[in-house]
Amino acid sequence: KTNQQWGGRFSEPTDAFVARYTASVNFDQRMYKQDIQGSIAHATMLEQAGVLTVEERDAIHQGLAEVTADIEAGTFEWSIELEDVHMNIEAALTAKIGITGKKLHTGRSRNDQVATDIRLFLRDEIDIIAKELTRLQEGLLFIAEREADTIMPGFTHLQTAQPVTFGHHLLAWFEMLQRDYSRLMDCRKRMNQSPLGAAALAGTTYPIQRDLTAQLLGFDKPTENSLDSVSDRDFAIEFCAFASMLMTHLSRASEELVLWTSAQFNFIDLPDRFCTGSSIMPQKKNPDVPELVRGKTGRVNGHLICLLTLMKSQPLAYNKDNQEDKEPLFDAVDTVRDSLRAFADMIPAITSKKESMYEAAKRGFSTATDLADYLVVKGMPFRDAHEVVGKSVAYGLESGKDLSDMTLEELQVFSDTIQSDVFDVLTLEGSVAARDHIGGTAPNQVRAAVARAKTFLAQR
Ligand code: ARG
Repeated sequence: KTNQQWGGRFSEPTDAFVARYTASVNFDQRMYKQDIQGSIAHATMLEQAGVLTVEERDAIHQGLAEVTADIEAGTFEWSIELEDVHMNIEAALTAKIGITGKKLHTGRSRNDQVATDIRLFLRDEIDIIAKELTRLQEGLLFIAEREADTIMPGFTHLQTAQPVTFGHHLLAWFEMLQRDYSRLMDCRKRMNQSPLGAAALAGTTYPIQRDLTAQLLGFDKPTENSLDSVSDRDFAIEFCAFASMLMTHLSRASEELVLWTSAQFNFIDLPDRFCTGSSIMPQKKNPDVPELVRGKTGRVNGHLICLLTLMKSQPLAYNKDNQEDKEPLFDAVDTVRDSLRAFADMIPAITSKKESMYEAAKRGFSTATDLADYLVVKGMPFRDAHEVVGKSVAYGLESGKDLSDMTLEELQVFSDTIQSDVFDVLTLEGSVAARDHIGGTAPNQVRAAVARAKTFLAQR
């Protein structure tokens, strides 16, 4: 017996291995809701267009509701022979309501059907991801505000550079995520067009109403070109590009969390519930969650490359290659959702070790630039000031003293321009407070940035 959906021109059944090799039902059944949603809209439109009677449309709607119930009850039998989610559902509908079920596919192809389903699926996921991203950003604002006055070393080349506030550092992460959010919204906007009606590739001879199905499915409008509609997967690539960028940002933050929890940095503590122990070393508390987020960035980057490579040589219009779009996309969605959830739960639970951060900032001569700037204000050219401070640092290294620990007499050995007011700039507090402009690390600027960020988030 040849295939029940398209076997008319075939003289032998599909090879069993080929059936398994070409089937996608094991993974695309995940889109059953969107597939049924699309079919309900299509049937509604076919009745409006005079292709189906009211009774036929109602029978299809009723049957699809029953199919949904079966799938959700776990009693639906997915079949490899029926290849994919689309044909499984259509066959089940026909089994329930008889020949009317066979009319559903009028004026449509699996090519525009699957293009519609993936867009609907991804749109739903984007909305969930957007919420989770916002929750993480709210968590960042919560601790950035709390840590607005906490001083830590800021690094370049991972060497102590200048003191910054911990709140300021966390707001840097916030900004990365702001851009990720806007990339996600751009992606959603561009993909929110309905391919339904493109049919196999050229459109259809039935008097379909593409505006109606687009509207019923919440799309902004129908896509413009039928060939493009069934072959385009750039929305999936764009989503994966967003996902890679987001994971890159989370990975960089993860790396810092891992470093900061080490005994060598000792800047923060992660609650035990986000860590695991060692089976051999009893003292261990490992930051597994940030490590895994960092690690999972690799697979998401892989999915992006996978989809780009999938598309690179495909001629128009639909090719079976496109069936390979789903697994990478689904895994990118799942990985991003889980990683965001992990971060959104973990970030507000971080505690800072303020003394240890403060000591680390002092140890690295982080106010050396402030001393140079002080000399410049007193009239010394910057290059000369750089030299004077360099010598003071060399002395500090030798004597084991931070600049702020030296006496005025000790400092004046390097320049008599130095007066007692130098201590206002040599302290860590003075250094951060002096960077008092938009985007600067001063505690009051951090608080102002948090306030602005809260108003952005409130507008979402
Ligand atoms: N399962 C297919 C996919 O995921 C659906 C479209 C198949 N169309 C076709 N003409 N074989 O892309």
